[in-house]
Amino acid sequence: MADALKEAEDFRRNFPLLNIKMNDKPIVYLDNGATTQKPESVIRAMCGYYGGCNANPHRGAYELSIKATDIYENARERVREFIHAKKSSEIIFTRNASESLNLVAYSYGRVFLKEGDEIVITIAEHHSNLVPWQLAAKATGAKLKYIYLEEDGNLSEKDIDEKITEKTKIVAVTQVSNVLGLINPVKEIAKKAHSVGAVVVVDGSQSVPHIAVDVTDMDADFFAFSGHKMLSPMGIGVLYGKEKLLDKMPPFLAGGDMIEYVMEQDTTFAELPQKFEAGTQNVGGAAGLAAAIDYIDEVTFEKIGAIERELLDYALPQLRALPYIKLYGCDSKKDNKTGIITFNVKDVHPHDVSTILDSEGVAIRAGHHCAQPLMKYLGENATCRASFYFYNTKEDVDRWIAALKKVRKVMHLED
Ligand code: ALA
Repeated sequence: MADALKEAEDFRRNFPLLNIKMNDKPIVYLDNGATTQKPESVIRAMCGYYGGCNANPHRGAYELSIKATDIYENARERVREFIHAKKSSEIIFTRNASESLNLVAYSYGRVFLKEGDEIVITIAEHHSNLVPWQLAAKATGAKLKYIYLEEDGNLSEKDIDEKITEKTKIVAVTQVSNVLGLINPVKEIAKKAHSVGAVVVVDGSQSVPHIAVDVTDMDADFFAFSGHKMLSPMGIGVLYGKEKLLDKMPPFLAGGDMIEYVMEQDTTFAELPQKFEAGTQNVGGAAGLAAAIDYIDEVTFEKIGAIERELLDYALPQLRALPYIKLYGCDSKKDNKTGIITFNVKDVHPHDVSTILDSEGVAIRAGHHCAQPLMKYLGENATCRASFYFYNTKEDVDRWIAALKKVRKVMHLED
């Protein structure tokens, strides 16, 4: 066994949920693109917050509230370091990537777009980085244009070159597709977008857990991600935005803690980042996110990448040897594949595949993956998706493929 996969077995022991059974079989969890499992240290950080530090941050002048404020603000600083933003005031906590992207579409898109402007997105976007732009286009009279794909699943360079024009005001692109698992050239796209004066919104939901991200180096204007896909609890997400843009945007949600003065007919707003954080915030989630970043830092992206590559190298030849398996996004001409394998089994609906795998204790995702325009572009209504993380092992792949070999037999398509 290759070295990286030996380490995966050690990492796995830190994740309590990976010891449970599903359908009376030890679980094989291959749905990390949907959400990851949580290590002991993240669970402890959450319990520690609620068991010993819980109070409303930014409001109380007593020790416990000050402690909660410190935990929350230290987490913000931890996120800033992790994605290499310049200032922690450029880090806004949200519920998840969807909320972060909606914040940009509402408070930037709908405010600054006008009729005749163009928004350029890619056909590989998750609905979270697509529907908000459709709505913004409809509300403002702007036009929504798509960058399509090359044969190998990568973004068409010709489209990047031709569709981003002087009319483009916003380019919204995922750094890694949740279906194809391919890393997009966001730095080059940002350069092109900036050359025509457009802002760039990057959906980092599927990249931040798997590759080192530097928002300053890529020169993203906005960068969104969720905590729960990177070992953290659900309900905490991040929006990074350049200060000069966030400063000129109106608030997205209004309420407590985002104000400076409230008068009967008017309000002035708090400085960044509070202007965009209305109401009581998710301090426990932020504590969990900071612990997750500590854990990922210990594991290192080098090892995460090596483990995912070895899992791909082990699984893909076995899948290619099965004549009834169709793969999507697995033949990239570039070295830019993360640990996502999207596939279909000939003549079997993905939901049936998933249910049969479930009976063998194997969890994958089946459906349209919140990317219906991409499904249509690929000529499918739905697909199956196995998505790895650094605690997946060779045995997980063995169990998954063994279960996959039973699918067509269970469906009476083969003996
Ligand atoms: N966005 C998540 C996924 O790709 C839910 O599965």
